[in-house]
Amino acid sequence: MLKHECSTLLAALIWAACLTPSALPALAQEREAPLIIAHRGSPCHFPEETLEGYRRAIEYGVDYIEMDVVSTKDGHLICRHDLTLDDSTDVAEHAEYAERKWTTILPGGREQSGFFACNFTLAEIRGLFAKQAIPFRNQASSHSFRVQTLPEVLQLAMNSTGAGRPVGVYIETKGPAFHSSIGLPLEARLVDALMAAGYGSVAAAPLILQSFEPQSLQNMSRELEARGLPGRANLIWLLDCTADVSDAQLDAFAKYGYGVGPEKSMVARLVPAPECARSEGDACSAVAPEQACTGRLTPAAAAAAAARSWGIVQSELVERAQARGLVVHPYTFRNEGRFMALDFDADPLAELSLFRALGVDGVFVDCPATAAEWLATQHAATPSWIGSVISSPGPRQAAAIASVSVLATLLAITLVWGVVILVRHRRRQRVKYQFFPSMFNTGDLTWYPPDYRRAVVDETGGGSRGEECGEDTPLPTSIMMTAIDSPPRIAEQERRADRANGGGT
Ligand SMILES: *[C@@H]1O[C@H](CO)[C@@H](O)[C@H](O)[C@H]1NC(C)=O
Ligand SMILES: *[C@@H]1O[C@H](CO)[C@@H](O)[C@H](O)[C@H]1NC(C)=O
Ligand SMILES: *[C@@H]1O[C@H](CO)[C@@H](O)[C@H](O)[C@H]1NC(C)=O
Repeated sequence: MLKHECSTLLAALIWAACLTPSALPALAQEREAPLIIAHRGSPCHFPEETLEGYRRAIEYGVDYIEMDVVSTKDGHLICRHDLTLDDSTDVAEHAEYAERKWTTILPGGREQSGFFACNFTLAEIRGLFAKQAIPFRNQASSHSFRVQTLPEVLQLAMNSTGAGRPVGVYIETKGPAFHSSIGLPLEARLVDALMAAGYGSVAAAPLILQSFEPQSLQNMSRELEARGLPGRANLIWLLDCTADVSDAQLDAFAKYGYGVGPEKSMVARLVPAPECARSEGDACSAVAPEQACTGRLTPAAAAAAAARSWGIVQSELVERAQARGLVVHPYTFRNEGRFMALDFDADPLAELSLFRALGVDGVFVDCPATAAEWLATQHAATPSWIGSVISSPGPRQAAAIASVSVLATLLAITLVWGVVILVRHRRRQRVKYQFFPSMFNTGDLTWYPPDYRRAVVDETGGGSRGEECGEDTPLPTSIMMTAIDSPPRIAEQERRADRANGGGT
C-alpha cells in the first residue's frame, strides 16, 4: 500500500518538476533584455572604430561589436563610418594630402566633399591618427590610436570568442553602390575577409551583416552561398527615418532577411518640440551641435517615461516587423540628452527601459558602460516578472499564469498528501521495527532514527510507554542493552509475558 502511494507521489513530483522549467521561461521571455550592440566600439570614451574602443566594449560584455567598412584605393577594407576621413581622423592636418580633397555626387544624388578613403592607400591611412568624431565629446584620446582594417577587428572578436567570451561582429557596408560605381565593390572582399578570419569554420561565432541598401545584403548573401555557406550571416536592413517602409517591402525582405535596424524615432514616434531646436530638414539622426533634444514622445510613451513605469506601450513598427518574424534593432542610443526625446530628462537608462518595453530585440549603443549599468538594473529587477506579467496581460501571460496556478495547486495537493502518508506511515512503525534486522545493532543506539528508538522503548516496556523519545532523549542503559543485544529477545519476552498472563497454547 505504502509502496503504491510513494510511487504516485514520486510521479506527481516528477511531473511538477518537468512542468516548472517549461512554464517559467514563458514568463521571463516576455521581457528578455535586448542584445547590446557596441556601435562603432565605445565612441563615448574612445575614437570610433578603434581596436581600443572595441576591446573596451568586449570588456563590458556586449553581445556584438559593430563596424562599418569602406575601401582604400588599393582595395583594403578599413573600419570607418564615413566615406571621407575628415571627421574621424587627423587627415586635414597633413599638408601633404591637401590636394586629395575631392567633391563628387553620390549614387543617391547627394553631393559629398572631403578626403575620401578611396583616394588613399592603406599605407597612407596607417600613418593617420583616429580622432573623436563628435566635437563636444572628450577629445583626450584623439591622436592616440590608429585606423584599423576589417581583418584586424575580426581577429579581435575571434580571439575573444576563442578565449571563451563569445562576441559577435555586426558589419555594415558603407556606400555600397558608390563603391561599386568606382570599381571597388565591397561585398566579395568582405566575405573573403570573414572566411580568412575563420567565420567559415567557427560556426559558433555570431555574424550579422547590415546595410541601408538591400542590394548589398543580397550580394553578400550570394557571396556566402558561392562559398558553400548559405545563411551563415543574419542580414539586417537599416532603415532611414525619412523613408517609410511599406508592408510589401517588409514582406519581401522577410523572405531572406533577419531583421530591421530603424532609426529609434521610427520605433518611439516623436512630435516636434520647439525646445529641441531641430532645424526642419535635419536628418533625425543628425548630430547638430546646437541641438538640445530630438523632440517629444507621443503622449502614451511620454506618460510611461514620466512615471518611469513601462506598462503597456506599443510600437507599430516593432509589431509589423515581428509579425513577419523580423527582429528590430534600433539605432543609436547615446548618453547625451541632445540625442534623446525631451521626456527622458537626459537619462539614458530611462530611454533604454522604454525601448525594452516596446519590445525591441537589440540596441545600438555608443556607450557600452552605460548599457552594462542598465543591464545590471534590469537583472536586479528580474524577480518582478510576476509584476510585469500581471501589469501587461496578453495571451502568453494568461497561459503562463494558468500553468503557474496549476503548478501551485499541484504542489499544495502533493504536500498535504505527503503529510497524510507520513502520519499513516509513522503509525505502522511499531509493527515494522520488531523485524528490524539484528545485524544493524552495533551497540550504539544514537544513530538510529527516533522512531526506532521509540519502538524499542515501547516494546521492552522500559517505563517510557506512550512517550515520544526525541533524538536527544537518553535511553536507560538496561533497555538499550536488551534491545541491542537481541531484538528476538523482545519476542521471547512477549511469549513469556503471555504465558505468565495465563494465556498460552
Ligand atoms: C578619388 O577617387 C576617385 C575614384 O577612383 C577618382 O575618380 C578621383 O579622381 C579621385 N580623386 C582624387 C582627388 O584623387
Ligand atoms: C589575437 O591573438 C593572436 C594570437 O594570440 C595575437 O597574435 C593577435 O595579436 C590577437 N589579435 C588581436 C587583434 O588582439
Ligand atoms: C550587386 O551585384 C550586382 C550583380 O553582380 C551588381 O550589378 C551590383 O552593382 C552589386 N551591388 C552592390 C551594391 O554591390
